[in-house]
Amino acid sequence: MKYTRILLKLSGEALMGEKNFGIDHQRLLQYANEIKEASNSGVQVAIVIGGGNIFRGIQAAEGGMDRVQGDYMGMLATVINSMALQSALEGIGVQTRLQSAINMEQICEPFIRRKAVRHLEKGRVVIFGAGTGNPYFTTDTAATLRAIEIEADVILKGTRVDGIYSADPEKDPSAVKYERVSFTEVYEKGLNVMDMTAFTLCKDNKLPIIVFDMNHAGNLKKLLSGEKVGTLVEF
Ligand code: GTP
Repeated sequence: MKYTRILLKLSGEALMGEKNFGIDHQRLLQYANEIKEASNSGVQVAIVIGGGNIFRGIQAAEGGMDRVQGDYMGMLATVINSMALQSALEGIGVQTRLQSAINMEQICEPFIRRKAVRHLEKGRVVIFGAGTGNPYFTTDTAATLRAIEIEADVILKGTRVDGIYSADPEKDPSAVKYERVSFTEVYEKGLNVMDMTAFTLCKDNKLPIIVFDMNHAGNLKKLLSGEKVGTLVEF
């Protein structure tokens, strides 16, 4: 396998599948099976999942809600998704641990870096919920922060687009996909990879990013065995 330890960032919105809200169980199971395969191949897997299928803090703020309140609600939404994923994984026999940045001791462990690393070393899939535990940060930033803390080799950002394009491929048909870009090129060309806080954190800590289509079955496996899938951002 190409990597020893990965941080997989999953989109909350992607969990909706074809639905308009909530969790699509087929999609959840698909993710769980791919994660199981990755974990069984010996790769240590940590996961951060968004909450956009349930609640989006920024949109709520645009509608007049207090931003901080909205962000905390978004963090709780990520815990709901994390619990769903944990349950799906355990249902197919994968050992998991869920750690939250906001203490909820009745339902999950608190985030303790050293414990998380220990769980990973024992082959358990570790899911990090509640973002960074702070408002004004995205789940991409949470994923990056956790990836750096646990010394992951790479952050794999699963999206519904199969990589980074010169323009938005859903709007501009002339957009071309990059196989590889450098951190500097992303700034220079104004490419959309992650929000700037998350992206800069990756750059400053030399954490490579791979953006790929997680909804395409088999992509995660290919990526881990070294096949070129999606777009790699590195130095
Ligand atoms: P080892 O120390 O490697 O054996 O790890 P472990 O996670 O098996 O040990 P521990 O005794 O800490 O945890 C046993 C179970 O309790 C696991 O399912 C944990 O996720 C869970 N657990 C541990 N701490 C907490 C907590 O604060 N809250 C909740 N809800 N569960 C916890």
